[in-house]
This record gives sequence, structure tokens and C-alpha cells, in this order.
Amino acid sequence: MIPLILVLATLLAQETASSASSLDYAFFRDHVQPIFLAKRPGHARCIVCHDHTTPRLQELSPGATSWDEDQSRKNFGAWLQFVAPGDPMSSRMLMHPLAAAAGGDPFHAGGKHWTSQSDPEWQTLAAWVRTGAPAAKSSAPGSLDFEFYRTRIEPIFLKPRRPGEGSGNACYTCHTKVASRLRLQPFSSGATSWTEAQSRQNFEIVSRLVIPGEPLKSPLMLHPLASEAGGDPTHTGGKFWVSQANPEWQIVAAWVQGGK
Ligand code: HEC
Ligand code: HEC
Repeated sequence: MIPLILVLATLLAQETASSASSLDYAFFRDHVQPIFLAKRPGHARCIVCHDHTTPRLQELSPGATSWDEDQSRKNFGAWLQFVAPGDPMSSRMLMHPLAAAAGGDPFHAGGKHWTSQSDPEWQTLAAWVRTGAPAAKSSAPGSLDFEFYRTRIEPIFLKPRRPGEGSGNACYTCHTKVASRLRLQPFSSGATSWTEAQSRQNFEIVSRLVIPGEPLKSPLMLHPLASEAGGDPTHTGGKFWVSQANPEWQIVAAWVQGGK
């Protein structure tokens, strides 16, 4: 039997490979990597922790002040998994070390290195992320209703799951962390739901995973749907919907079809 971890690693690697080509490697090597090595007052340099913490940076060779070509390519591959091409605000590489008050994630064990999005380093990283093609934009986002999304779809992401239902975890549990285009905002510390502003950010992201009027072409509807029922072949998080008659699938379909 193939260990699950290998399957997961392969799927994640495939995911990365599909987005890899769209980001600029030379820009990463020449402008992004120096940020990992730069000293900032009050903080350790990224390399100090991230040569042994995910996302990984290659250890510098003895005496070297930067990475060689081979190491740079490895760094590129590792950090791509923490980036949503074309979309800085959905890229954990940018959001994790950014102060929460400036729109960043609530917590980073390595500290908040940037207090605002206008920080020149943050801007450089954003410029790199924008070298990538954004995830397929839905053709008519205007036809998707925000209130319907907020009141009917978001509860699906938060719903606790029984063992055997998908992987047994809420969508939220993984989709605030895993490398995929479905990148939901983590709750602010102490909160048990999203603020309206966070829901709007989620709405932007989720809208790109559907094609209005086309449930059977929308990744959001196909990925967690059993392949026997017309869904995608695999979803690392498990198959939550065994058929298109599933009430949750029906709710999402109603939204995709313009439900208000
Ligand atoms: C003092 C050690 C330390 C420093 C310095 C540090 N980090 Fe981290 N970082 C961590 C640890 C530990 C984690 C995992 C726990 C967490 O998510 O907070 C982490 C997590 C992350 C993550 C998210 C990983 C995930 O699974 O979502 C990103 C992205 C990241 N760091 C980027 C950076 C960048 C960029 C810098 C430099 C600007 C940096 N870190 C500096 C310790 C550090
Ligand atoms: C155990 C973790 C886990 C859970 C729980 C989970 N997912 Fe996922 N999901 C993943 C991972 C990892 C990926 C990326 C790899 C893949 O496509 O399988 C992913 C990918 C996706 C994608 C494709 C995004 C893209 O980039 O095209 C969608 C859509 C999705 N999940 C929806 C959901 C929904 C809806 C739920 C809850 C009903 C859910 N997932 C629950 C781990 C999870």
C-alpha cells in the first residue's frame, strides 16, 4: 500500500507544478530571495527559521552569502506552494508575516515583519506574485449573489463533519492552510465566524472557482463530488458529496445558477 503521505505529497506537487510555470523564476531569484536574507530591526531573518521550518529555504553553503542556481530553484519550488499566482492577498507568503491590522493573518510564529502593505518588501513580493496568471476568472462574477453566498454557502465550509464524511474535517480546517486556490480567510483570534469584510474576501476567491450558470464545469462543485457522480477523480480532502442530489451540492448549484 502506498503511504497516504506520499499520495498527499504527489497531489500537492502536481498542484504546484500546474501553477509553477506561470510565475517568474528570475524575478524570484533576484528580487524575492534577498528578502529572505535581509535583516529587519526586531526580527530574525527569514532564513534563520525557514532553513528548517516550512516553507523551506535551502541551507546556505558554508561561507556563502546567497544560494546557488540549484538551491534557488529548490527555494522557488518550495515557496510557490504558499503563493496564489496573480493574487497577493490570497498568498500566505505575503499574508503570514504581515500585521493583522494591515490585512495579514492573525498569527505568525516568526513575527510580523511588515506593518503595512506599502512596505517596499511586501510590494516586491506582490509584484512577483502578480507575474503569475490569476486563477481562471469567472466570466460573469456579477451574477453571483453575495448575500446568498454568505448565508447559505459559508456555513457549508464551516460545518463539522462526521468520520467517513469526506476526510471527516470541516472544509475550513484545511482550506485556511492547504495549497489550493480555495483559500479561505482564517478567523481573527477569538472569533467564531467571519467578519463581513473577510466574507467579501472569501467571496472573491470562491467566485473564481465557479462558472456562473455552469455547475458541472465549476471546480467548487466537482472537486468534493464523488467521481462516480460526475465529480473530479480526486480531492485530497475527500469526497463529501456522493451524488448531485446531496442537499449541499444543490445549494451550491442554486448559487452558481444565480440564486439570490
Ligand atoms: C523566528 C522564526 C521565524 C522567522 C524569523 C520567520 N518565520 Fe515564518 N514561520 C515560522 C514558524 C515556526 C512557522 C510555522 C507556524 C506558524 O504558521 O506561525 C512559520 C510559518 C510561516 C509561513 C506559513 C506556513 C503555513 O503553513 O501557512 C510563511 C508563509 C512564513 N512563515 C513566511 C516567513 C517569511 C517570509 C519570513 C521573513 C520575512 C519569516 N516567515 C520569518 C518561524 C519564523
Ligand atoms: C483534509 C483537508 C481538506 C478538507 C477537509 C477539504 N479539502 Fe478541499 N482540498 C484539499 C487539498 C489539499 C486540496 C488541493 C489538492 C487537491 O486538489 O486535492 C483541495 C482542493 C480543493 C478544491 C480545488 C481548488 C483548486 O485549486 O482548484 C476545491 C474546490 C475544494 N478543495 C473544496 C473543498 C470543499 C468544498 C470542502 C468541504 C466540503 C473541502 N474542500 C474540504 C484539502 C481539503
